[in-house]
Amino acid sequence: MKLQSIRGVKDILPDEIWKWQWVESIAHSIFPLYGFEEIRVPIFEDTRLFSRSIGETTDIVEKEMYTFEDRGGDSITLRPEGTASVARAYIEHKMYAPPSVTKMFYIGPMFRYERPQAGRLRQFYQIGVEAMGSQSPAVDVEVMTMLIEFFRKLGLKDSTLQINSLGNKNCRPQYREILKSAIEKHLDKLCNNCTNRYERNPLRVLDCKAEQCGEIAKNLPKMIDHLDETSAQHFAEVQQLLDIAKTPYTINTNLVRGLDYYNMTAFEVTSNNLGAQNAICGGGRYDTLVEELSGPSTPCFGFALGIERLVSLIPFENDVNPNKACDIYLVCLGDAAKIPGFQAAHELRLAGFKVGRDYEMGSMKSQMRKANKSDCKFTLIIGDNEITSGKYVLKNMDSGEQHNIESNTLSSSIGKWVNS
Ligand code: HAM
Repeated sequence: MKLQSIRGVKDILPDEIWKWQWVESIAHSIFPLYGFEEIRVPIFEDTRLFSRSIGETTDIVEKEMYTFEDRGGDSITLRPEGTASVARAYIEHKMYAPPSVTKMFYIGPMFRYERPQAGRLRQFYQIGVEAMGSQSPAVDVEVMTMLIEFFRKLGLKDSTLQINSLGNKNCRPQYREILKSAIEKHLDKLCNNCTNRYERNPLRVLDCKAEQCGEIAKNLPKMIDHLDETSAQHFAEVQQLLDIAKTPYTINTNLVRGLDYYNMTAFEVTSNNLGAQNAICGGGRYDTLVEELSGPSTPCFGFALGIERLVSLIPFENDVNPNKACDIYLVCLGDAAKIPGFQAAHELRLAGFKVGRDYEMGSMKSQMRKANKSDCKFTLIIGDNEITSGKYVLKNMDSGEQHNIESNTLSSSIGKWVNS
């Protein structure tokens, strides 16, 4: 039997991981400037956490969760997203205690049983951030501008920030009814999915990808025309601050998001270079989630982006794995070089050099070929003559220049050439 990875999951191989590490390092350098600190939450949680927060009638909860009973009979779910877990941790660890905004980010795998296709996986990775404890529109805009700055640092082009307001509990229920009645006039033309769900979740008709629903959605009533005063004021301030920050955006009145916890600002960043799954990032405000999970009233704002989609969009000029190149490649010749070669590698690595070597210790020619392939800057040659004289030969692979290196002061003598 040939064992293979499961459909919809993929290995991230060493030749690609360096791109991920770079993306993550930029996140680690930019997010703290805005006050975000990393949190690591578990990959699995009590199933009820997700059904209560993401919403019983969402696609994720209805058909995409990896849920199983563990050996103790508890219902466990592999996290389909990170916000619910961060909200749970926030409450569990009373992170609301200092009366300021708690800002956290996370990086890790999420699991959704979706139909695999380009850009859509069953295990995918997200970078997410959550700012918890303020309803100020400044938080919405700081977080969105931080994201855009992050994308700019990564060299991402051709992405669009789309925003909308989903109102709040005072105005959304009325709007839902207005929307439902408007949708009912087109029931015979909706896709099956929308026909089945419009009563429970009419907002999803607005962003349904089926062509016939898209046509109908164009003329359905818009949430932003039915906002109460607080939501309208909030949305106006968000736009004003985005303008001040010179962050370009478009208003997409059909943007609704696939998770139920959102209110007021919702946003997505999309790219035309991604195909059907064009969202790189999604997020928004969720002011009632923490309270619904039995925590104190805590208005929040956050987003998550898909790392696979993001990495596929970054224009890496030089698509060569930089982790492969070593500083020094050891060329050890003959049996007598076995122990000195081993000692040299050990000493040089302890001194902080990246050392490659050929354990089979083949001919000079074959070791030099491997050295070339390893993209090393220098080779260190240790053969019978070098052992007898106590001087190893260091060769600069670009210039061909050679230097004798005292074997008993190896790392300090080599540093002069390799670090220069
Ligand atoms: P989401 O829109 O479900 O939001 O996911 C965010 C991003 O994760 C998407 O824009 C996409 O890039 C990526 N993504 C989602 N599903 C897949 C998939 N099956 N395969 C590959 N990539 C995928 C959330 O998860 C919210 N928790 C975001 C949030 C944080 N809202 C507030 N705070």
